Amino acid sequence: MESFLIKGGVPLHGEVTISGSKNAALPILAATLLTDEPCVIRRVPDLSDTRFMVKILESLGATARFADGTVKVHARKIKGYADYELVRKMRGSICIAGPLLGRLHKARVSLPGGCIIGARPINLHLKGFASLGATIKIEGGYVDAAAKKLVGNSVFLGGRAGPTVLGTANVMMAATLADGVTVIESAACEPEVVDLAVFLNAMGAQITGAGSPTITVTGVAKLHGAEHEVIPDRVEAATFLIAAGATDGEVTLKGARADHLRAVIDKLNEAGVAVERAGAHLVARRRTRLKPVDVTTLPYAGFPTDVQAQMMSLLALAPGISIITERIFESRFMHVSELARLGADIEIEGPSAIVKGGRALSGAPVMASDLRASAALVIAGMAAKGSTQVNRIYHLDRGYERMDLKLQKLGARIGRIEEK
Ligand code: EPU
Repeated sequence: MESFLIKGGVPLHGEVTISGSKNAALPILAATLLTDEPCVIRRVPDLSDTRFMVKILESLGATARFADGTVKVHARKIKGYADYELVRKMRGSICIAGPLLGRLHKARVSLPGGCIIGARPINLHLKGFASLGATIKIEGGYVDAAAKKLVGNSVFLGGRAGPTVLGTANVMMAATLADGVTVIESAACEPEVVDLAVFLNAMGAQITGAGSPTITVTGVAKLHGAEHEVIPDRVEAATFLIAAGATDGEVTLKGARADHLRAVIDKLNEAGVAVERAGAHLVARRRTRLKPVDVTTLPYAGFPTDVQAQMMSLLALAPGISIITERIFESRFMHVSELARLGADIEIEGPSAIVKGGRALSGAPVMASDLRASAALVIAGMAAKGSTQVNRIYHLDRGYERMDLKLQKLGARIGRIEEK
């Protein structure tokens, strides 16, 4: 296993190019299963998760080639069965269920199971499929969804924590080939859902309202091949903005979309990190001393849960008390005890973390527990005095394209070593 070894205390300076969005690329790659014609997807980040999704497409019978950020997929003939060994490794792989059901009228997909950040049920995905006329059976750890034909319907996808991103994607994809009109209410409004709808419409689907809580899908008989360029990764962009603030540096982000980052930019400004537009770029630098702020994670356009851990590292450096409340996932605070190893003073009270910020952090060996927690530890390590070894960075490699190389270019002293 590999680790990052970080020598902290160096402000980041320079330019970084933001990669394509992982969470947009995964369902878009899955959507290529909806047509027997070739598709070309560009700006796909080269990550273990996207490579894995390409493997899943191949296992279903598609031919796929991933080179230089472009994935070419041709799903001429596919099967509707995805094995446990494939699905369990990546929870996002559940988004193949909608396309399989849409195209083949059957999908047998292993239940993905929970993960470190929470239980992660798929009841809403299944409710959506059932509303379109599918019979759902759960047997031997697999979901079997089957329908003679899919028929458009009104589907309410609000759950205990609000809308579901991949659930919306799944139902939207299945509905593209259903008979009649599907109206998804309480749909997720995330930019990744909008990007998927743009791609599906390029394939010949008829979707309106993506980006709002009501999405209307008018079913069509067939979808055709299409080309698409994935949106920039707003979570990666947020991570670099926060890293600039945490190290008291100045970083220019090329290719980031400010319109996808409003909640993050607003909180960073409040915390004393200025984020300004410079032409097509975004520049982050400290405006004042860091200040404490309260942050609550919410569905889009609220503050993203995928940036909560990184923000906590920044607020651990801000003198005063910040309260971070996690409203999307029930156990997404695994980074707290690792940040404590670097000297942060953080207490968990129910869904909130009380950050008593302003203590100087000092380097230590720490363990990454999930993707975004890893990024938080890297940020804290770069802001800390001395050496930090972040172990288990395979989590980070799932979702950040060449993060160590990008940080090195910004002046960070970070290297990849074999974990001892
Ligand atoms: N939920 C249900 N029932 C469902 C589905 C979800 O109760 O059927 C609950 C979840 O347990 C959670 C909330 O609804 O409490 C939101 O979950 P959602 O379904 O939106 O999450 P997801 O679609 O499985 C995607 C991203 C996550 C990101 C969340 C929330 C991908 C591949 N994953 O997951 O990304 O945190 O949306 O924005 O798109 C990450 O990149 O690190 C990551 C975890």
